[in-house]
Amino acid sequence: MRAKLVAANWKMNGSVYLIEKMLDVLVPCMSNTTCKVVICPPNVLLSSLKNAVEGTGIEIGAQNVHSELSGAYTGETSVKLLKEFGVKWCIIGHSERRIHFEESDDFIRSKIETLIDHGIIPILCIGESLEQRDSGTHEKTVLTQLRNGLAGLSIEDQRRCVVAYEPIWAIGTGKTASPEQANFMHTIIRKEIKSLAGKEIADNFQILYGGSVNVENTKSLLSMSEIDGALVGGASLITDDFTQIVATEFN
Ligand code: 13P
Repeated sequence: MRAKLVAANWKMNGSVYLIEKMLDVLVPCMSNTTCKVVICPPNVLLSSLKNAVEGTGIEIGAQNVHSELSGAYTGETSVKLLKEFGVKWCIIGHSERRIHFEESDDFIRSKIETLIDHGIIPILCIGESLEQRDSGTHEKTVLTQLRNGLAGLSIEDQRRCVVAYEPIWAIGTGKTASPEQANFMHTIIRKEIKSLAGKEIADNFQILYGGSVNVENTKSLLSMSEIDGALVGGASLITDDFTQIVATEFN
């Protein structure tokens, strides 16, 4: 059986104070959860988070990385620096980066290669817009993003990735994909991974759902056979809510 993973994407939110407040509530619940828990704060908080999570079982993620290891890239962060701060996971290709920073599939793929080369697990985000869903091109869009994101990776490197299906129309809107809608998309994503990397890798591949995950809908979403966890935005900033999401019992 695939392990469940719940990752908090704090986006451009959070503070040193939120780290303290969050861990006060979350850490006592860590012994009750069967999920792996990851917090992805803004990069400037990585150092504080690293000190705070020591010995708690909570792992550290980043929200982005540059594909190059160093150089004249003002404002960017190197994977080598992420490693120094104990980062084990990195969100890649989030729709907010694709839209606001015009990140291409090619750039996203090169970031994934850099992460894998340095032992950090990429969480590749893919998902369709409302227009694409309404026009019936959502399956094609998502599978193209998947194929382009993993293009050129060896089968063993594909094993080292996680995918998050995040329909853009569900992000920050309070409009969640129904468990059936999400499960269907996860099924076709897994089928595609099977054709790219084989059955064994596909069977063990973690596919997360993201988009307005909250305390109320976590159980129904994460109880679906193909949904292996959640990438949580807004609700991950509310200490009690995120803790409840992590502590949810799944079927
Ligand atoms: P919300 O949970 O706020 O909809 O955000 C989802 C998301 O973008 C996680 O990466």
